Amino acid sequence: MSNTPTAIKGFADMFSPDSDAFTKMEAVARELFSRYGYTELRTPILEYTELFKRGIGTETDVVQKEMYTFPDRHGRSLTMRPEATAGVMRACIEHARASADSVTKVFTIGPMFRYERPQKGRLRQFHQINCECLGPVEPYADAELLVMAVRFLEALGLKDLTLHLNALGCPQCRPAYREALRNWLRQLDADALCEDCRRRTETNPLRVLDCKVSSCKSLTENAPKITDHLCPDCEEHFAQVRRLLDAEHIEYVLDHRLVRGLDYYTRTTFEIVSDAIGAQGTVAGGGRYDGLVSQLGGGEVSGLGFACGMERLALLLPETEAPRPDFYIVTLNGVGSDGRTAAFSLAQSLRNAGLKGEMGFSTRSVKSAMRQAGKSHAHCCLLIGEQELADGTAVIKDMDSGEQAALPLADAAARIRTLIASHSDRA
Ligand code: HAM
Repeated sequence: MSNTPTAIKGFADMFSPDSDAFTKMEAVARELFSRYGYTELRTPILEYTELFKRGIGTETDVVQKEMYTFPDRHGRSLTMRPEATAGVMRACIEHARASADSVTKVFTIGPMFRYERPQKGRLRQFHQINCECLGPVEPYADAELLVMAVRFLEALGLKDLTLHLNALGCPQCRPAYREALRNWLRQLDADALCEDCRRRTETNPLRVLDCKVSSCKSLTENAPKITDHLCPDCEEHFAQVRRLLDAEHIEYVLDHRLVRGLDYYTRTTFEIVSDAIGAQGTVAGGGRYDGLVSQLGGGEVSGLGFACGMERLALLLPETEAPRPDFYIVTLNGVGSDGRTAAFSLAQSLRNAGLKGEMGFSTRSVKSAMRQAGKSHAHCCLLIGEQELADGTAVIKDMDSGEQAALPLADAAARIRTLIASHSDRA
């Protein structure tokens, strides 16, 4: 076995252009979410384990199988956040931002950790862009969140996504539905469901609808639908959300199996799915969680939110060309350290003028320096030889046309800008 260190399985390094794609997503998110009144919240990666057990639900796969949990040096159980919502709730309750009388809208961006089997679009350290809105009970909030999620994905240039929508009821109507579903599941052949689902039938039957085992999926195809068991308030709430989506021409499919993998959801739930990236095609998911704040010890405050998986979005982003540097500076043989100092100063002054580029540091050979200039894809190369050093000039070489001309160093920034403009005219 080699002695060089490697990254942990499911934890990825990210160089450019992958990291550029993340920067772009973050910039688009910040700009777009601010139009809807969201501000950024940064929460810790580590929280007390209890928070996730209480927030996400002890019957979920996330809590049962996927958390990175360990004791700290005093034996307190800590967990690396598997999702952002529970931590955001904890922060808002702790800092008195969770109130039924006002609206708090926050977004978070950062790494999450789940011990899942890594595959395309599924990592153990992955990144989410996550939005949470606390306070409003009105269906306008659900519709606004959904519109924002869709507009965000559109702004990234993503196409062919399907919005799946469901309503999960409330404490008024869900218990009766849960019982109806449990009774329906109990009348199935005793061994037909997987072992987990046989247990879930008794402990949390809605989770059966979310099982990934294909035999469980097909067996529950005709299970009772929650949307047939909603109370009048939930029914009207859901109808109004759909009317608002229709008014915005946002298409969706109703998906009665969409119960989500976390236990806190009530009423509207949704996922946005792409067919283009294989099995892990859900790029965003979320919904309303009206009982979560009180479940975590806060007041009776409604809430709703969603999160996008950034690695999955990155797989779908249209290819963008890396931006070209503006210049590359090469010193010719014989200029010595005075010439290289002049080149060094020229590079700084061009950057101070807002241009982007580098100087070749190596003194080994002009040929390899020119090769580096070509590789950098810069718009132009500036050459400084003995003559140029003596005259206070440089030769500017257009890297697309190959044309060369001498210029006074003082004119370099303006001439580079003209040359770049001529390249974009030609493109
Ligand atoms: P979630 O459905 O568990 O919801 O995750 C949201 C998104 O994170 C998924 O749709 C997926 O794109 C991405 N994701 C999840 N696990 C992985 C993974 N192992 N590798 C790569 N990407 C992954 C939540 O986390 C909720 N907290 C969302 C929410 C916010 N609900 C209300 N507010």
